[in-house]
Amino acid sequence: MDAPVIEVHDLHAGYGNGLILQRVNARFMPGRITCVVGGSGCGKSTLLRSIIGLLPPRQGHVRVLGEDPYAVDEDARARLLARVGFLFQNGALLNSLTVAENLAIPLRAHTRLPADVCAQIIAQKLALVGLAGTERLLPGELSGGMKKRVGLARALILDPPVVLCDEPSAGLDPVTAAQLDDLLVRARRLLGTTMIVVTHELPSIHTIADDVVMLADGGVRFAGPLADATASDDRHLRAFFGRESAPLGDPPPTLYDALRVDARGAA
Ligand SMILES: Nc1ncnc2c1ncn2[C@@H]1O[C@H](COP(=O)(O)OP(=O)(O)OP(=O)(O)O)[C@@H](O)[C@H]1O
Ligand SMILES: [Mg+2]
Repeated sequence: MDAPVIEVHDLHAGYGNGLILQRVNARFMPGRITCVVGGSGCGKSTLLRSIIGLLPPRQGHVRVLGEDPYAVDEDARARLLARVGFLFQNGALLNSLTVAENLAIPLRAHTRLPADVCAQIIAQKLALVGLAGTERLLPGELSGGMKKRVGLARALILDPPVVLCDEPSAGLDPVTAAQLDDLLVRARRLLGTTMIVVTHELPSIHTIADDVVMLADGGVRFAGPLADATASDDRHLRAFFGRESAPLGDPPPTLYDALRVDARGAA
C-alpha cells in the first residue's frame, strides 16, 4: 500500500489550557480527496491548523509529505509548507492588494520566477477558477464566491501536491458551490493533488469525497471510504447522512442555556 501523504498520529491539540483534539489518528492517502466532517466547534479547522504547522501538538505528531513540520528547521519547514496549498475558511485575501498581488505572494516567497512568468501563472490559475481577467480588482470588489475562488487559485498557485480547504463552499449559492466542487475534482484529476476538504455540504461530499473523516468528542468517530460512511449503522453517521430524522443524544444548548452557564460561571 502507498505511504500516506499526511499522517496524524495520536494528536492532542488545543488553545490555552483547553484540549480540543485528543488522540486523533488519521491517514490521508495520495491522490484522494478526504472530506472532514463534524459539528461546529468540534475541531475541524484546528486539525487543519495542526497539519500546516500553525498549532504545535501537545502530544503525538503530524507528518506531511514524510516530514514533521514541527521537528524540521525554519527553512525546511518553509519548503515543506510551499508544497501544501491552503484555502482558509474566510478566504484570507489581503484587502489592500489586488487579486494578482494576492496570488503573487506565494510565488514571490517560494520561487525566483521573473515577473512575466509569474503573471502568466497567475492568469492561468485565475482562468482555472473561472476568473480570467480579474487581476486588477481588489478583494472589496469581489463577491463572496469570487473571493473563495481567488483563495483557491492562490492555494493552487504553486501546483502543490497537497491542498487543504476549509469549508470552500460554505455560504455560496448551490450553482457556485457545485462549480467549486468541479474545480477541486478537476485539479485532482489534472495534478493528482491529495486534498483534505472540511465541509458540511452533503452534495459536495457526494461529488468530491473518496474518503470521510468524522470528528466527534475530540477524536475520530469514523475514517474510511465514502461508501462505508454512507452505509454505516453508527447513529452519528446515519444522522449526518440524513438516514435518521434527528441526531440522538442531548439537544444542542440554546443561546439561553449558554448565557445561563456563563452567568453561573461568572458568579
Ligand atoms: N485561536 C483560538 N483560541 C482559542 N480557542 C479557539 C481558537 N480557535 C478555535 N478555538 C476553539 O476551539 C474549538 C474548535 O474550533 P475549530 O475552529 O477547530 O472548530 P470547527 O470544527 O472548525 O468549527 P466550524 O465548523 O464552526 O468552523 C472551538 O471551541 C473554538 O472556540
Ligand atoms: Mg472551522
